[in-house]
Amino acid sequence: MASKSTKSPKSPKSPKSTGGAFAILGALLVALGLGLGIRYAFLDKGPIEPLKIEVKIGGPFDLVDHNGRTVTDETYRGRYLLVYFGYIYCPDVCPTGLQTITEALNKLGDKAQAVQPIFVSVDPERDTVAQMAAYVKSFHPSLIGLTGAPEQVMATARAYRVYYAKVKKEGAAPNEYLVDHSAVIYLMGPDGRYIQHFSHSVEAEEMARALERHIDK
Ligand code: NI
Repeated sequence: MASKSTKSPKSPKSPKSTGGAFAILGALLVALGLGLGIRYAFLDKGPIEPLKIEVKIGGPFDLVDHNGRTVTDETYRGRYLLVYFGYIYCPDVCPTGLQTITEALNKLGDKAQAVQPIFVSVDPERDTVAQMAAYVKSFHPSLIGLTGAPEQVMATARAYRVYYAKVKKEGAAPNEYLVDHSAVIYLMGPDGRYIQHFSHSVEAEEMARALERHIDK
């Protein structure tokens, strides 16, 4: 597994000292969940409402697209953005997420023009502009691949609360590693503000419906 698919940008670790209390609370919540929550989770397939509180995700970035052009967050103002961080050599998680984005946009038809899907590399040392250009062709024709200097990528990932780290086997060649990374797909508004996010395992249909709700507003 190359990616921490379950990593969410807003799940703070509970302090170790209060672990016992959390365990009890957890047990209570599970018990409550059995009675109430699970019924909702499985029967109510309705849309998930975006968070109403202000969430600071996203912000300025300065990267290079797969055509070698310098781009910033302002390059894409006026369109909804689907922002996904990953890397070309990712064995399964990234291709799955990008395939879901592709299918969701295909379901939207002409409305997909309001959405710009973006794949940001967390492996800029191997993901060159040329490699990105070849890679994005496997997915939706509007997909843009972004890479850049390692510090530019790091700043962008930080703004989006994305975690990533090289995972290297002992004795492996310098260029031989996986990258552990959060696999959250962010939906940003035409003003550049965070709207909501999807798990990389979201169904294309669910993503398409969520996008449509915003586009049709
Ligand atoms: Ni990945």
